[in-house]
Amino acid sequence: MKERLEAILGTALDAVAQAETTDALEDVRVRFLGRKGELTALLRQMGQLAPELRPAFGEALNRARDRVQAELEARQAALLAREKQERLRRETIDVTMPGRAPVLGSAHPLTIGIREVCEIFVNMGFKVIEGPEVETEFYNFTALNTPAYHPARDVQDTFYISDSVLLRTQTSPMQVREMERSKPPVKVVVPGKVYRRDQIDATHSPVFHQIEGLLVDEGVTFADLKGVLTAFAHQFYGADRKVRFRPHYFPFTEPSAEMDVSCGLCGGAGCRVCKGEGWIEILGSGMVHPNVLRAVGYDPEALTGFAFGMGLERIVMLKYGIDDMRLLFENDLRFLSQFR
Ligand code: DAH
Repeated sequence: MKERLEAILGTALDAVAQAETTDALEDVRVRFLGRKGELTALLRQMGQLAPELRPAFGEALNRARDRVQAELEARQAALLAREKQERLRRETIDVTMPGRAPVLGSAHPLTIGIREVCEIFVNMGFKVIEGPEVETEFYNFTALNTPAYHPARDVQDTFYISDSVLLRTQTSPMQVREMERSKPPVKVVVPGKVYRRDQIDATHSPVFHQIEGLLVDEGVTFADLKGVLTAFAHQFYGADRKVRFRPHYFPFTEPSAEMDVSCGLCGGAGCRVCKGEGWIEILGSGMVHPNVLRAVGYDPEALTGFAFGMGLERIVMLKYGIDDMRLLFENDLRFLSQFR
């Protein structure tokens, strides 16, 4: 048994010396010193020895176990140090390497447009509000002096939720909602989505955006309308642009006018963009109809006001020279990333 002990000790010391990783070393420990380990087994077999031989053998066995244990610990320390060195070498970072720049997003051209338009009106004292896209027939049409029989309803066919609830065709219903809930002076702009039963093409979409404006107070005149909208056009398109007002018809304003700006491409001479006109229409406007004021309980004898509405896609397309509205909805990054 003495020889067995010597042989096992030799094998154990070799195994320790040859273990190349801390994991392998742990296997060696289990193999020799574990509960079912080879040296541990010898301890159990000691009973087979003659009693007088046992103390000496026990002592030798203990020394062997201590020796293996000490070698294990030394090797463990060496391996840990080596593994740490290797990890440090593997994980070094080159701090001089250029960083990976995060991809920055940017606002959508329509969002940029809404912000620019609203900022211009905010600087003139207007407040920005928003309203529901699912609207009642009453606010979308009836309260805007457009009763059920009115032909103006035909050109604004939309999506109906029920007979009297629909997706709004214009942001104008917010004129009524805002006047109902507040006292004059009322001075608001209202950006938002509107819906119509239109086929998609380069200039039409069943969903698009409008920005509505309303100013109601004592003594507001058509001169105020012209002044405010001219100031807007000059700030949005440039002070060199001319504007003109053409008579038009809207059910909820009287008189009504459309505003044109001189074409930015040809300067008014006539070209492809303005279709030879020299002018481009950018919004509808007018003096708030007395029937609309009455519908919200305002006294048309005491108060007057003007309103306007513009199609956001249209004015953004004109400003940036975009020739197809679908580009604004297709979310192609090659297009969108040009608007940083
Ligand atoms: N709501 C009109 C439309 O969608 C645009 C408009 C015209 C709004 C004249 C107004 C206005 O406030 O005064 O065609």
